Amino acid sequence: MENLEQMVAQAQADFAAAADAAALEQAKARYLGKSGSITAQLKTLGRLDADARREAGARINQAKGLIEQALDARRSAIREALLAAQLAAEALDVTLPGRGVGLGGLHPVSRTLERIENLFRSIGFEVADGPEIETDFHNFTALNTPENHPARSMHDTFYLEGESEVLLRTHTSPVQIRSMLEHVERFGHLAQMPELRVIIPGRVYRVDSDATHSPMFHQVEGLWVGADISFADLKGVVTDFLRCFFETDDLQVRFRPSFFPFTEPSAEIDVAFMGGELEGQWLEIAGCGMVHPNVLRHGGIDPERYTGFAFGMGPDRLTMLRYGVNDLRLFFEGDLRFLGQFR
Ligand code: DAH
Repeated sequence: MENLEQMVAQAQADFAAAADAAALEQAKARYLGKSGSITAQLKTLGRLDADARREAGARINQAKGLIEQALDARRSAIREALLAAQLAAEALDVTLPGRGVGLGGLHPVSRTLERIENLFRSIGFEVADGPEIETDFHNFTALNTPENHPARSMHDTFYLEGESEVLLRTHTSPVQIRSMLEHVERFGHLAQMPELRVIIPGRVYRVDSDATHSPMFHQVEGLWVGADISFADLKGVVTDFLRCFFETDDLQVRFRPSFFPFTEPSAEIDVAFMGGELEGQWLEIAGCGMVHPNVLRHGGIDPERYTGFAFGMGPDRLTMLRYGVNDLRLFFEGDLRFLGQFR
């Protein structure tokens, strides 16, 4: 019995040393379990007489109470430590700035195409498209391009393997033919026919690659066919468009005589900015002309009754000029450090 105090002290020390709940339960068993030392003490009581039993029983129960108290204290300490560790591990710093969502943006060339479409829509043009894999007929023959024209050579055009009649279109002009045929089919021929006013943005392909040429690039074709459409209409529409597109009247537009098989007369359109880095420099941005009678005929339209103008512009060029970019390839490399600047 003399060792009760020692037992309590030992139990307190054991419990304090128990690192986790399992170790603590093992330590508890040594004192309060079936064959624990306190339980053994209680078993000796039966051998004592009544007075001694009462007195010894009280002492043993007091020791037992102290051990249970120490056990409970250690149990909640372990539970709290566990919770604290868990909270620390799952800690969340709510004062950190948010990660944000990476916003995408339109490609600069897409922006240009959208601008062009909106400007032409505002003067009554429809927007159309056509296939990028085109027939030799639509791409060349129907556009009055003779058999021996250099544009038809293997050096200039991507033909599809084993298919001499099918190629990647070299320009958006074949969609002129498709648009005219569709228009005539929709509205019937001649007298009742409303004017055809269409622009055709799209990708085109040529065997060409350097700082200002990419094997894939964009064009926007324009076509206006009606009862008495003239070269003056062409000049007015294109000049107005360019001033709106570049948001300046300080822009000179020049129609330089040229040749295309599908127009007669034909011209190249050059622009020059007044002021700024490119001051005084003429830059070619489009080809144009009055639609050749043979082309109208291939489109199912009578050239004796109708005339039209057409143009084909390079929106990639327009994008370079608008944003001051000097290498065309940057647009098609997909480098987000470059593209992210146009958001
Ligand atoms: N298709 C020509 C090219 O790719 C551009 C062009 C010139 C289109 C004159 C036209 C035009 O509609 O009238 O070089």
